[in-house]
Amino acid sequence: MTNIVIIGAQWGDEGKGKIVDWMSEKADVVVRFQGGHNAGHTLVVDGTTYKLSLLPSGIVRGKLSVVGNGVVVDPWALKDEMKRISDLGVKITPEVLRIAENAALILPLHRELDQMREAAAGKGKIGTTGRGIGPAYEDKVARRAIRVGDLAERESLPGKIERLLAHHNALRKGMGEALVDGEALYRQLIEISEVILPFAEPVWKTLDEQYKAGKSFLFEGAQGSMLDNDYGTYPFVTSSNTIAGQAAVGSGMGMKAVDHVIGVVKAYTTRVGSGPFPTELFDETGDLIRSEGHEFGTVTGRPRRTGWFDAVLVRQAITVSGVHGLAVMKLDVLDKLDELKICVGYEHKGKRLDTYPMGLNAQAEVKPVYETLPGWKSSTFGIRDFARLPENAKKYIRRLEELVGVPVDVISTSPEREDVIIIRDPYAKA
Ligand code: GDP
Ligand code: IMO
Ligand code: MG
Repeated sequence: MTNIVIIGAQWGDEGKGKIVDWMSEKADVVVRFQGGHNAGHTLVVDGTTYKLSLLPSGIVRGKLSVVGNGVVVDPWALKDEMKRISDLGVKITPEVLRIAENAALILPLHRELDQMREAAAGKGKIGTTGRGIGPAYEDKVARRAIRVGDLAERESLPGKIERLLAHHNALRKGMGEALVDGEALYRQLIEISEVILPFAEPVWKTLDEQYKAGKSFLFEGAQGSMLDNDYGTYPFVTSSNTIAGQAAVGSGMGMKAVDHVIGVVKAYTTRVGSGPFPTELFDETGDLIRSEGHEFGTVTGRPRRTGWFDAVLVRQAITVSGVHGLAVMKLDVLDKLDELKICVGYEHKGKRLDTYPMGLNAQAEVKPVYETLPGWKSSTFGIRDFARLPENAKKYIRRLEELVGVPVDVISTSPEREDVIIIRDPYAKA
């Protein structure tokens, strides 16, 4: 049994879904531990595309799929997603899906607040997914959230709604928005509780039972290290911790469960939404990467910003998550480029930096220092054997390893499940 945490080591959309799906063949349990339906994880299996937001990617293989307490759950979005994925032939029953009873809910008022704030922020907006993630986490930390298990305690629910609305209606009044009617919200919650409660349980207990029975776990991160609420490009981040340590907190498994941490990166970099991005490209190369990589958001359809691989940022992500090995995705997207750049440091106010500064101004001001490598100008699409990669692609991978300081475990060369090159099987290691 080997338990593996898979996290994004850039700004999200690295290809975590594909890696989790591919690795879940050998896992028994797949656990989401943070984020919500701001995530968009794409799996392509024999030509069929599955886009998952809240459901753990293991659901497609029928693995025990757990939504941990660290996740914020929009039950209406969950209902829609269950329908969408069931329609593709995936079985979603309480046998395979479990949702933490102590996970906080995302309500319509959170989504509305997220969108109202973004609209009011104009140019200063974060570029959120507009799904209510931030406001839901705020209420969780402020101890006024309604949690999944609260839906089963009908007598105490009106009091909780009243507490919640005391805050939100004051805010809405100040913003000149319509107030939320507590009784209507109560009715909405009772109605949706029938959809979600069959899946709700103390998942920490289930996970412990599975652990003691020798089952193996995959912890499926969402977003990426640079969107982490502590370590990312704050305030242009998401409202949860996205780094590997959150797997313990957001599942109730504790530290014992983790044997290996995989950091997922693209062979280049993308970002969606606002905020600093030192290696961003505004030229044809950036456009080529966007079109070759189909870099448009899974959740919002927004074009993703594109740029060169930033070894400094990835090195930091590796440190704060305790990453053991990388999964390098989308190598094939770089096939047509004449040359490739890798950011190996920054210049700021005449000084050379080998870490990313914390201040927002400094983050925006740093100039990347690049190393240039020759392209390979041939197709790597679908290659499954390292030896078959063009020499310059091998050199690129080897250089990334040297610069970030951990080995590459796997390389991905197409969206399809089986198109991966295994360099070091994470299951063989532990
Ligand atoms: P996630 O949020 O980290 O799970 O990543 P997304 O699913 O949002 O974005 C990754 C996109 O790249 C998806 O459309 C995948 O199907 C696609 N993808 C994943 N790996 C590869 C690869 O190696 N090559 C190519 N061309 N596409 C890939
Ligand atoms: P996956 O799991 C990429 C970004 C948003 C925005 C910021 C805050 O598919 O990698 P939020 O709605 O979370 O408050 O938005 O975070 N963001 C993501 N970017 N991939 C994601 O998830 C993201 N989830 C949130 O674009 O910049
Ligand atoms: Mg995504």
